[in-house]
Amino acid sequence: MNFSQQLSNIKNKHLYRQVKIANNTCIDFCSNDYLGLKNHPQVIEAFKQGVEEFGVGSGASHLISGHSKAHQELEEALAEYTGQERALIFSTGYSANLGVFSALKNEIDWVLQDKLNHASLIDANQLCGLPLQRYLHKNIASLEGKITKQSGHGLVATDTVFSMDGDQANINELYKITQKSNAILMQDDAHGFGVFELNIPKNSIYMATLGKAAGTMGAFIAGNEDFIEFLIQKSRPYIYTTAIAPALCVATLKSLKLIQQGEQQEKLHNNIGFFQDFSQLLDLPISISNSAIQPLIIGSNKKVLSINKILLENGFNISAIRTPTVPKGTERLRITLNANHTQSQIEQLLMHIKNAL
Ligand SMILES: Cc1ncc(COP(=O)(O)O)c(C=O)c1O
Repeated sequence: MNFSQQLSNIKNKHLYRQVKIANNTCIDFCSNDYLGLKNHPQVIEAFKQGVEEFGVGSGASHLISGHSKAHQELEEALAEYTGQERALIFSTGYSANLGVFSALKNEIDWVLQDKLNHASLIDANQLCGLPLQRYLHKNIASLEGKITKQSGHGLVATDTVFSMDGDQANINELYKITQKSNAILMQDDAHGFGVFELNIPKNSIYMATLGKAAGTMGAFIAGNEDFIEFLIQKSRPYIYTTAIAPALCVATLKSLKLIQQGEQQEKLHNNIGFFQDFSQLLDLPISISNSAIQPLIIGSNKKVLSINKILLENGFNISAIRTPTVPKGTERLRITLNANHTQSQIEQLLMHIKNAL
């Protein structure tokens, strides 16, 4: 295996990925900390108290001795918040998605996924060896066309808010279709949890992550009692891994309280509105979304990197998203807004983008 040659090939295609230490001197328009809870004093304080009470780690998997009072309280609070019978904590969103597919592996005959679903849903599907078919993005006719050809039990999986475009799936429509066929609906609400009102139809599967709007880390699945018990029996990424630190659960419980108070959401939605108005005023080609994710399509890996560099030199940190993460021709700057941005920061960012274009 010639790794050096492989690396040169990746570099030549402008696809080389580099891990960098986060630049705290720049204004951050790329984090998923949509509500600014990652550094919220009350969340930090709760985390410290959690460490005092429970120590730094959980010490074991949930089914051995790693499931503390803090995990239990958080699961109960998440079940209540989502209006579901139960919730189950996973270490990450990636493992939660894998956890659902690994548990359902012998229960379902087919899976249909939106073309623009997150990589973790696609990987979960493929790693479990389940046949994967994809319908056109948010295209109900495309889904219906494929569903009529299936037989047996199925799963329809969708991002609730799409991670690269910030647009939203039509959950009610998708649910109606799954009700007419022999299928369960699964939504991955990584980017909607804490930002939008929840919409979880009866007997569907809901996954959300805690490392984005909740500002901590981990993820959970919410659903009915039997389904959660079934996951505990069958979900390998739940069974065979160390539980997240209890202190993280204490901090997340505080985040959940702040989410319920709604103040941070209001600030975020004001910023989204201001961003939309100002980008229209400057006539910028931003695909408008109502979520915190605002994509600016550039259309080439090389160009997206060069604009990204200019913005960085001007003190703004934004993600440059290249192929293969997004389809060829839709390479983009992915701007993410949060509750703590000021209108002046948003204004400056958009002016710099206008100049760089
Ligand atoms: C839609 C979506 N699902 C799942 C994940 C994975 O979540 P986590 O980072 O907690 O593994 C992410 C992001 O990373 C995501 O954007």
